[in-house]
Amino acid sequence: MNRPYIVCHMLMSIDGKVTGDFLASDACAAACDIYYDINRRLPSNGFICGRVTMEGSFTGGWYPDLSKYAPARHGLDQKMDFIVDDLSGYYAVAFDPKGRLGWKSNRIVDPDGDPGYDDAQIIEVLTERVDERYLGYLESMEIPYIFAGETDIDVLLALKKLKDIIGCETLLLEGGSIINGAFQRENAIDELSLVVAPVVGDKDGKPLFYDSDMSKFELMQVETMHGNVVLKYKIKV
Ligand SMILES: NC(=O)c1ccc[n+]([C@@H]2O[C@H](COP(=O)([O-])OP(=O)(O)OC[C@H]3O[C@@H](n4cnc5c(N)ncnc54)[C@H](OP(=O)(O)O)[C@@H]3O)[C@@H](O)[C@H]2O)c1
Repeated sequence: MNRPYIVCHMLMSIDGKVTGDFLASDACAAACDIYYDINRRLPSNGFICGRVTMEGSFTGGWYPDLSKYAPARHGLDQKMDFIVDDLSGYYAVAFDPKGRLGWKSNRIVDPDGDPGYDDAQIIEVLTERVDERYLGYLESMEIPYIFAGETDIDVLLALKKLKDIIGCETLLLEGGSIINGAFQRENAIDELSLVVAPVVGDKDGKPLFYDSDMSKFELMQVETMHGNVVLKYKIKV
């Protein structure tokens, strides 16, 4: 396979939603614990999230003052990836087409110190829409970046580079709905790991895969844990 093996690991409601107030409800507390516990145990080279999820979970919307940064040493016109020497083998891969995430460190600082996230080395996946000064900022922070697409992220190109350049063999895809949908439409999800909480989401909740196409999966495992259901599926080829 010319890309990493992708396991989409998500917590969802009975009605298949992955966003909304239900996530913070009492009814979802045990499911959250199960979700994070499985996340810690799934073998991988790290996790991928969309820009919105990375912002909500880790950067909190902070953004650097780009006027302080010179454009990158190699210009946007050359679309050159920036890789550092000390690749750690465990990554937080941000699909951030326009370069909107502000990182204060080149490693994840998880608010709870969760070993499933904490200290993961950040990698930015960008498009050519990014401000060149943002590249200068990333380089000053020693944050590796790769280009994958002109205006939208080309998921398959990004994954090929994550395997060939960074050396990722397996990555967890951990939301949200939009990025999951982009992977699903490209048939780039090999396995699903789902924790279903005993709660129905509200009308504003987004589905597991936003804007999905039809694809078939084979059920591999079902477990119940404290009133929650844990499901494992493999893509049917
Ligand atoms: N239940 C769970 O297990 C779980 C897990 C993670 C997150 N969540 C929830 O999910 C919510 C966020 O999900 P979301 O669906 O709104 O956003 P998301 O998938 O986290 O991020 C979407 C953003 O990613 C960027 N992006 C990167 N590649 C893309 C592509 N190929 N196509 C389209 N966009 C691409 C775009 O950023 P730009 O807008 O900058 O272009 C897009 O707006 C949060 O509320 C979070 O709590 C739930």
